Amino acid sequence: MLTISVLGCGYLGVTHAAGMAELGHQVIGIDIDPEKIAALADGRVPFFEPGLDELITRNLAEGRLRFSTAYEDAASADVHFICVGTPQRSDTSAADLSHLHAAIEGLAPSLADGCLVVGKSTVPVGTAAHLAEMLRVLAPDREKVAVAWNPEFLREGTAVADTLRPDRLVLGVADTSAEAVLREVYAPLIEAGVPVVVADLPTAEVIKTAANSFMATKISFINAIAEFCDASGADVTVVAEALGRDPRIGEQFLKAGLGFGGGCISKDIRAFRARAHDLGVGHALAFLAEVDAVNLRCRDRVVELLRKQCGGGFSGRRVAVLGAAFKPNTDDIRDSPALYVAELISREGGVAAVYDPRAMGNARRAFPHLTYTTSPLDAARGADAVALLTDWQEFATLDPRVLGKEVKSRNIVDGRHLLNAEEWQQAGWQYVAPGRPA
Ligand code: UGA
Repeated sequence: MLTISVLGCGYLGVTHAAGMAELGHQVIGIDIDPEKIAALADGRVPFFEPGLDELITRNLAEGRLRFSTAYEDAASADVHFICVGTPQRSDTSAADLSHLHAAIEGLAPSLADGCLVVGKSTVPVGTAAHLAEMLRVLAPDREKVAVAWNPEFLREGTAVADTLRPDRLVLGVADTSAEAVLREVYAPLIEAGVPVVVADLPTAEVIKTAANSFMATKISFINAIAEFCDASGADVTVVAEALGRDPRIGEQFLKAGLGFGGGCISKDIRAFRARAHDLGVGHALAFLAEVDAVNLRCRDRVVELLRKQCGGGFSGRRVAVLGAAFKPNTDDIRDSPALYVAELISREGGVAAVYDPRAMGNARRAFPHLTYTTSPLDAARGADAVALLTDWQEFATLDPRVLGKEVKSRNIVDGRHLLNAEEWQQAGWQYVAPGRPA
């Protein structure tokens, strides 16, 4: 078993640290935020991720997992995983690599001879080579410090399972000794049959951004078809079902509606385009601008459906907003389509009465001026329309008759195609959803 450090204790880093401890390694998670580290060391995860608390508590108790704010505590590690955020820059659509550079600068003085530094963050192609160069300058006396790239494909909401049972492992390496170390890290998974793709460093970097771009394209494809369905009277949910039955297409990521949000996909497609532009092949990824535009239009189309149900404007109207997280099973509200819609309603003089099973705290902190409620029924009380904006299972089981007693008018926009339209119509609701005939 190896000694591993994980730098950056956000969604990715904490899950990875716990997952590596679960595989039997000695792991230390490092982050510069003392509050976060104190909570983690105490077994408290500062965000909601199903199953992660148990994983952390068990591995802390069994002595395989520790957390610290001091880079020096990572000094004995054989492998250092870099899991810091690479958000979109505020001035351009490129990735902000400042956290990555700070982590390398912090770590360099503590590196042992012969260790491996492994990037997991999503980065523009060429970053691994640049970090290797930085380490040569920052730690010139250290022998054989190598850099590898091992992109991560975990999804929020299923991060634990995605870490312990991934679809594939991508090992981006410059030589066979780095590959051997990574194979040792993941030995239990490889023995269990997880497929391994070995690649050079730039290929490993491109795989990750290409994967997220493909998923974004698939979602925007079906949302573009939804727009076409609205104009032509066809039903996008039936189109998607029939397309998905073809194994060459596949049924996943064909759910039309409000489109994608979150801290990853949108910024990754923008950064991918920016990098293509830098490399002189902007035309090759120009279609991603359209993918982005279709996605952003989804949000405004849902607002328009709601506006119509409210009689043409939101002024003096109350809309029950069901959902604040960017998707179910997370409390993450980064670039949340649901909160974008709520914000527009409020900006146009309406009351956006928000309810989310997990993301209320984060939503309230970021959007303090919205109205927060304690349940779907509380949100619906006196509402002119209901907007279903995050596909939590809790909302799928709402009873239209019970909710119907709370609202002022039985109007609902199903922004995630979660509900049974007929059931709601039979209960007297005007049910509308993007891409479906009224
Ligand atoms: C995404 C990728 O799926 C992960 O593989 C990747 O590791 C991660 O980004 C990352 O780069 O860190 P995540 O952002 O957790 O994971 O969320 P997804 O499950 O991909 O969903 C993204 C968005 O697309 C959500 O807002 C979801 O509601 C939306 N979506 C998804 C649709 O609108 N339609 C669909 O059919 C599927």
